[in-house]
Amino acid sequence: MVKTYHIVTYGCQMNVHESEKLAGILCKLGYVYAENIEDADVILFNTCAIRENAENHAFGNIGALKKLKKSKPNLIIGVCGCMTQQDNVAKELHKKFPFVDIIFGTHNLDDFESLLNKRIASKKTVIEVLEKEKAICEETPKFRTSYPNAWVNITYGCNNFCTYCIVPYVRGRERSRKMDDILEECRHIVELGYKEITLLGQNVNSYGLDFNDENVTFPILLKKIADIKGNFRIRFMTNHPKDLSDELIDAMLYSDKICKYIHLPVQAGSSKVLNLMNRRYTREDYLEKIEKLKAKIPNISITTDIMVGFPYETEEDFLDTLDLVKTCRFNGAFTFVYSRRKGTVADKMDGQIEESVSKDRIQRLIELQNQIAKEISLEYKDKVVEVLCEDFDDKKNMYLGRDEFNRMCYFGSGENLIGKFVNVKITKTGGISLTGELV
Ligand code: SAH
Ligand code: SF4
Ligand code: F3S
Repeated sequence: MVKTYHIVTYGCQMNVHESEKLAGILCKLGYVYAENIEDADVILFNTCAIRENAENHAFGNIGALKKLKKSKPNLIIGVCGCMTQQDNVAKELHKKFPFVDIIFGTHNLDDFESLLNKRIASKKTVIEVLEKEKAICEETPKFRTSYPNAWVNITYGCNNFCTYCIVPYVRGRERSRKMDDILEECRHIVELGYKEITLLGQNVNSYGLDFNDENVTFPILLKKIADIKGNFRIRFMTNHPKDLSDELIDAMLYSDKICKYIHLPVQAGSSKVLNLMNRRYTREDYLEKIEKLKAKIPNISITTDIMVGFPYETEEDFLDTLDLVKTCRFNGAFTFVYSRRKGTVADKMDGQIEESVSKDRIQRLIELQNQIAKEISLEYKDKVVEVLCEDFDDKKNMYLGRDEFNRMCYFGSGENLIGKFVNVKITKTGGISLTGELV
């Protein structure tokens, strides 16, 4: 009988792509994907540690499998990713859920095949969390699941140590992939018919710094990818405001393939808070970059991440954030309440903010951002936008896709359009998404 697998993924796009590598390894071993978790012979949880609720969520869902494991003793359950890369969490997980068969971290994801074999041969729990990152592995197969988009890592890890953030501790130091390896992967993806490439890194702007070679920078990489023949779009994420250069802004204008869209997390509108966060830019620096982007690329779409309730954030600091949001008029914003992470600098800070205060602030922030997004959305009415059709929404009975500005758009069609660029006239504007008709 054919063996099957199911993967549950939490966290960012980086993790989504890493699950494609886990799936690639399993497919190579002859496993096939099981839509229903209860049918699978191998279940993997690829976890995230960015906020407490991400961890709680995973713990809850892993615990819920106890019964299934009892009724299917041959089932293999594995947990990996940023959560289990933390030694104390890996131990806690093993203690709480002894029925989990394999526990590994982010540094040995590429070794999953040997970990699985070890578990099968020994019939014992395998726990392997490496302390340090290894050299980049280019050989891991990938089973891509996000056609027409293809994720492409350009860097791994992070050197920035923002004081609130767990990522540098669970993903290791920043490592760039060789430019030739990236270009080869991109060419292959385009040949296979993918229509969108999304370059991934915790800070794509610092790509290549570890090579110390002026010919290996992010703007140069971007242009080289744009030179690949074919009809496709290029996106990239995430950018760090301290490293966003004039060269990159110019490179964005180099080709129509490069989406005029940028995700530029600001985190806070107060220079005092930004300094406490170790972001290494001020409110003024950030506003200057936004002005430059808008001046050079007038139709650019900008989205951001914002956090409230960071230690020592006063009402005045928070009003600075609201004011910055009004000035920048972001096309979209991911908003978060600060969450204490063990091992980070901010966790040891006095001046932690009460939950009720943070909750009030996030509500006010969301309200303002929703209002702005709605106003921007209205400007789309009756316009024709080019959308890359990505999927079909069963509930709405409509196709959906995004325009180059990353705006979600729904439309009806009798024909399967997934993977095609189509023109859609917007008839209905709402909050985040648009609805229209094919033209
Ligand atoms: N490397 C990316 C983002 C990584 S995490 C960058 O620097 O932009 C994505 C977002 O999660 C961050 O931008 C931040 O807004 C949020 N985040 C990170 N750590 C957090 C924490 N401890 N509590 C709440 N939000 C957090
Ligand atoms: Fe975390 Fe900052 Fe690195 Fe982003 S840049 S991953 S927020 S430490
Ligand atoms: Fe989460 Fe790890 Fe990404 S902590 S946000 S999955 S890098």
